[in-house]
Amino acid sequence: MKGIILAGGSGSRLAPSTNSINKHLLAVYDKPMIYYPLSVLMLAGIKEIMIISTESDKQRFEDLLGDGSSFGISLTYREQVNPNGIPEALIIGEKFIGKDDVTLILGDNIFYGQGFTNILRNAIQNHNDATIFGYRVKDPKRFGVVEFDQHQKVVSLEEKPIEPKSDFAVTGLYIYDNKSIKIAKKLNFSERGELEITDVNKEYLKRDQLNVQLLGRGFAWMDAGTHESLYEASEFVRNIQQRQGFKLACLEEIAFYMGYMTRESLYEKGKSMEKNDYGQYLMEIANRKHTQQYWDSIDRNPVLGLVENE
Ligand code: TTP
Repeated sequence: MKGIILAGGSGSRLAPSTNSINKHLLAVYDKPMIYYPLSVLMLAGIKEIMIISTESDKQRFEDLLGDGSSFGISLTYREQVNPNGIPEALIIGEKFIGKDDVTLILGDNIFYGQGFTNILRNAIQNHNDATIFGYRVKDPKRFGVVEFDQHQKVVSLEEKPIEPKSDFAVTGLYIYDNKSIKIAKKLNFSERGELEITDVNKEYLKRDQLNVQLLGRGFAWMDAGTHESLYEASEFVRNIQQRQGFKLACLEEIAFYMGYMTRESLYEKGKSMEKNDYGQYLMEIANRKHTQQYWDSIDRNPVLGLVENE
């Protein structure tokens, strides 16, 4: 399974903040936006990830995250010259995906909730064809809306419907098999001049190959594409972190939990940033004793060798 983060686009709704910088490099509270979708792919166990961004900022992403080896993953970078739509990620990523399946996530989507890691891993393990994620929203008219039967087989998909057939929006996380590349290549531009991800999903639906995985009421799904939603997302992250003392989307912490990073290198990374809260947090994690109860309490699976007795 390969992973792609799509972090291009024009970010016009966040102007002037995005006039000279890619939206996904802006901070959501205490870390760049791109950390959040990257953490999702890492937690899913995906190790080969391509970040697709804009021509002008590709280098900045590389400066920020490097080749991924310090997090135990492999990161490659490509650019999307024009914001031609989400399915273009599958075309740009064709060689990188090769014969594999792919999990595609939008760079401004934030997911958080108990059990998310397991839901994602199960969805990847058991998936065939295509899986999208549905999330109940108050205002479905603003989103792609998915209607489904009791077996979570999709019955209909509609983009911003006037009369929505369900309250479930389609989130920016998609698990596709390899034929998604061919499907993307055959798409025509829509009236608004973009390749539409809904058209990829509709093609799977036509073949009766589209599944939906629902994210329940205990989940938070947000995008950070407007000033209001970016502020709200920052506030959300801050609230959870202040209350629980755990950081969301801390890549080094996840790498450590996944067994990709040693305790020593985690400590060293923290030490290099010891003047700020992020660095101090890494040092604290490196110094913690990790019991089974601890892993259970944070809803993450212990990796071999990390469970210790207090
Ligand atoms: P949007 O929020 O639809 O578009 P945008 O990011 O360009 O912002 P705006 O509407 O304010 O101009 O995009 C959703 C996500 O998908 C976002 O993370 C950017 C990404 N995206 C691309 O990378 N390339 C694209 O061609 C499109 C349409 C979106």
